[in-house]
Amino acid sequence: MKKSCVCVFSLLILFLSFTIEAKNLDDWLNVQEKISLSKIQENISPEDAKPGVVIASPSTQKPDYYYHWVRDAALAMDVFNYTSASKDLLLEFATFSRQNQIDSGFLGLGEPKYYVHGRPYDLPWGRPQNDGPALRALTLIRFANTLLEQGDTETVRKHLYVGAFPATKVIKVDLEFTGNYWSQPCFDLWEERWGHHFYTRMVQRRALLEGSRLAEKLDDPEAATWYFKEASKIEKDLLRFQSIDKEVLLPTLNGENGNDFRETKLDTSILLAVLHSYNFQDRFYSASNEWILSTTSQLEAAFEKTYPINDRAVPGILIGRYPEDEYYGGNPWFLTTLAMAEIYYRAILEFIQDEKIEITALNQKFFNRLIQRYGDQTKLKIGETFTFQEDKFHEILNLMRWKADNFLRVIQLYTKPSGAMSEQISKQDGRQISANDLTWSYAAFLTAKWLREEVLAYF
Ligand code: NOJ
Ligand code: NOJ
Repeated sequence: MKKSCVCVFSLLILFLSFTIEAKNLDDWLNVQEKISLSKIQENISPEDAKPGVVIASPSTQKPDYYYHWVRDAALAMDVFNYTSASKDLLLEFATFSRQNQIDSGFLGLGEPKYYVHGRPYDLPWGRPQNDGPALRALTLIRFANTLLEQGDTETVRKHLYVGAFPATKVIKVDLEFTGNYWSQPCFDLWEERWGHHFYTRMVQRRALLEGSRLAEKLDDPEAATWYFKEASKIEKDLLRFQSIDKEVLLPTLNGENGNDFRETKLDTSILLAVLHSYNFQDRFYSASNEWILSTTSQLEAAFEKTYPINDRAVPGILIGRYPEDEYYGGNPWFLTTLAMAEIYYRAILEFIQDEKIEITALNQKFFNRLIQRYGDQTKLKIGETFTFQEDKFHEILNLMRWKADNFLRVIQLYTKPSGAMSEQISKQDGRQISANDLTWSYAAFLTAKWLREEVLAYF
């Protein structure tokens, strides 16, 4: 065969394998969506639990995750704000959550986990974790907004929010707690470090902003003003997490416990902070923000080096919590790898809305890493701007989408044929390890999958 012939032939094979692969990804995503929804449902109100309980995982030993974790539960239940026929599920969750508030144990609302019969966990643990009430408020505020749109003010006032003070309903109780205590140090979302956390503050800010709007709708103007004021203070505080030196956002300030062994200061909690506090109208540290992109590309580079499994010749990089992690040996996680995909999809949507991409000192490395890995050696320079009318704009977005899809492909590869997803993927051999059927893994899959659908509308 002539050389050119071989070349065309191999290009054809390459093209075919890409299209077959792409088709497989779409098919898999659709099947996995149904499985993920039912897996989450299986972890809600199991037989021996109170209605409204969301177990973090059915695993009862090594690790024992058979508890209602406030954070995991809020994130999982939020999924039902985007599906039909979920009113009863959310109402039961609201009722159980109100019980948790009333009986929240010796450190109050920052209690991170509850037994499935409803009592607060009573053994030593990293507490308080003050992101919990904010996340719970956010999920329930979305639910309240849907009910209000449907004209069901009665259910909202009965179960979710009234202006009465001291607060008596679940959302307002969480907002009052958040408004009063956001500046206090606490344990981080990984339940390991004491200090002031970017993740926690980001979700607290969003809860107060959404809460302020809800309070206004429900004739509670003084609360609306106060929640808004506290949110503005948090906003200012969040600027302190910028490390000009490292060109990343720091996960924790004044951290204790384990701070020393974390040399890189890199943590995927920064990306989760963006995703879990998202509002398309508000660009405060949103996905396309230069600080976020810089943190994203440094995280990728670090995890590529940290995990042997990332040397395999498969598309996509597996991502963990932070490079120095030692929990179960320190491995990639499903939910953090999925978060990476979601950050890319969110950033794409923002660039499309802006109709331009500007190369800055902080995001330059992100974009150059992106184009160079795909064979384009032309460096993008600080100050360059690409508008919607230019090919380069679309080229960059295509690469970003390809990259985002690759995070899903690698997840597809390590998901069991049954659709089961655990917490972690062994960095050595890709086996699923730690808690099986982690509720949060399925929730993270769904939000990434749904966002991808919004992105595909533009391609
Ligand atoms: C259990 C926590 O849930 C996990 O996040 C942490 O890494 C380990 N304990 C080790 O502290
Ligand atoms: C450990 C994780 O670090 C934490 O974020 C989570 O809430 C618990 N496991 C339960 O899934």
